[in-house]
Amino acid sequence: MDALITLLPGDGIGPEVTKSGQSVLETIGEEFGHNFTFSRQHIGGSGIDHCNDPLPSDTVSSCNESNAVILGAVGGPKWDNPNAKIRPEQGLLGLRAALKVFANIRPVKIIPSLSKASPLKEHLLKNVDLLVIRELTGGIYFGEKQRNDSSASDLCIYHNYEVERIIRFAANLAKSRRNKLCSVDKANVLETSRLWRDVTTKIMASEFSSINIEHILVDAAAMYLISRPADFDVIVTENMFGDILTDEASMLSGSMGMLPSASLGDGRVGLYEPIHGSAPDIAGKGIANPCGMIGSVALLLRHSLDLQEEADLLEKAIYDAIENGARTADIATNNEKILSTEEMTQVITNCLVK
Ligand code: IPM
Ligand code: MN
Repeated sequence: MDALITLLPGDGIGPEVTKSGQSVLETIGEEFGHNFTFSRQHIGGSGIDHCNDPLPSDTVSSCNESNAVILGAVGGPKWDNPNAKIRPEQGLLGLRAALKVFANIRPVKIIPSLSKASPLKEHLLKNVDLLVIRELTGGIYFGEKQRNDSSASDLCIYHNYEVERIIRFAANLAKSRRNKLCSVDKANVLETSRLWRDVTTKIMASEFSSINIEHILVDAAAMYLISRPADFDVIVTENMFGDILTDEASMLSGSMGMLPSASLGDGRVGLYEPIHGSAPDIAGKGIANPCGMIGSVALLLRHSLDLQEEADLLEKAIYDAIENGARTADIATNNEKILSTEEMTQVITNCLVK
């Protein structure tokens, strides 16, 4: 197959892990006879530095012409002036809106030998295999913002159709898994959450009556993710709750550096990024964990290119590399040899082509 992939390395460790993502895609291309071509563009701080725009128009056109988009990370202290009108994060939020990728899939799986790297007790991690579906283009992230000398506000707004489509998306995934869906909200306090819960109840009763639906308040969900994570299967929630809960859930897997994500919508183009940020403290050192990015490439193969076999093999290669003891600094526990980003990518590549 021929596919055009836009690469948006962005800031901090973004370029380092994006290089890993490109490299495994090239290996998959060689092994399976696919022809992947790449268009590299600016976003975030790198967009501000090069084009004075966190989301240059060339970036958006390239993404729209591609089969899929890979993004590293955006942000960093260089652009962190709280009074700045332009921020790197606007590039990422603008791109999610431009591509209309309203559904963000964040799978949390445990690779057994990594349970030592998690701060949780090992017995709690047994059988953890969950999927967080985060609504990605609505809510408080996109509502009107205001600021004056003495106050500030961020509007949280959800429309029925935004809730309906994300619930349908999540429920369809739940059907292919354990047939249960957990919707997370704050319906005891927020009007948007009461709307969320009403719409969810209606859609589930009329279209997905065979799926077991449970509603949990976000504060309790945060606790259960730590006290009984294996009970969850598919979790669906609004934009900001999903952001917060997935950073928390990443610690089940041992490190934030492990988690991939896919952002999909009705449109043609999917956006794939690890859930970690730009990690300015380790940027440029070549020690970032590439697994979140490589896992995101597997999701790209599966969801945007429909290459199921290749996606499964790549996920298995990450699994095998880790089970064989390969460790970057963030997941090392027992004096294991610590690999650089490039070395880890190479070990995963070796598992892929063996
Ligand atoms: C994420 C990130 C982004 C978000 C930031 C960088 C805007 O934290 O993808 O989880 O909050 O969505
Ligand atoms: Mn986040």
